[in-house]
Amino acid sequence: MIKEVDDTKSNRDTVKRIAIFASGAGSNAQKIIDYFKGNQQVKVTLIVCNKPNAGVLNIATNEQIPALIIEKETFFRGDAYVGVLNDYQINFIVLAGFLWKVPEALIAAYPNKIINIHPALLPKYGGKGMYGHFVHEAVIANGEKESGITIHFVNENFDEGKHIFQATCPVLPTDTPDSLAERIHLLEHTHFAKVIESIL
Ligand code: GRF
Repeated sequence: MIKEVDDTKSNRDTVKRIAIFASGAGSNAQKIIDYFKGNQQVKVTLIVCNKPNAGVLNIATNEQIPALIIEKETFFRGDAYVGVLNDYQINFIVLAGFLWKVPEALIAAYPNKIINIHPALLPKYGGKGMYGHFVHEAVIANGEKESGITIHFVNENFDEGKHIFQATCPVLPTDTPDSLAERIHLLEHTHFAKVIESIL
């Protein structure tokens, strides 16, 4: 089902249609949706999720944005849902808490048009298994004085694409992984949508 897609040629050429891939609570997805609400040139058109009970799906329902629940076999050994993304005329992909590796078929279909947000200052604390609280635990265990966020293009390796933006915050001696996560989330919410806009 495709909702409210203006298919005139001029619109097809200029409107940026974003698919947000997320598998968690979706607080970043919500901020991005809010930021672009009412924008005629940039639309969050689709939420893509691999967890049927993820919080981000409630956000999709509330915001009346179609959601696509993906399954492993089609994503990794099929066409990576490129056909469905084309049906929705998606031309930009934002990973916001999406934990599966992005298959080559998708990277090839969207060259330099897939970005990710990582809750640390890459290249440190990135790669397979470095997500969510694991990142913050490692940062604290290593006695880092500073952490932050990295927004980067996605390539075939976890967390290795070209950096677009970084912002930092202090790591306090009293921090727990939860308190640091909260500070990092604030940074993400402040910057992510603006950085997306600047790329588009
Ligand atoms: C964010 O911290 C992001 O950096 C990481 O996953 C988390 C997603 O949080 N990749 P939310 O679902 O947007 O609240």
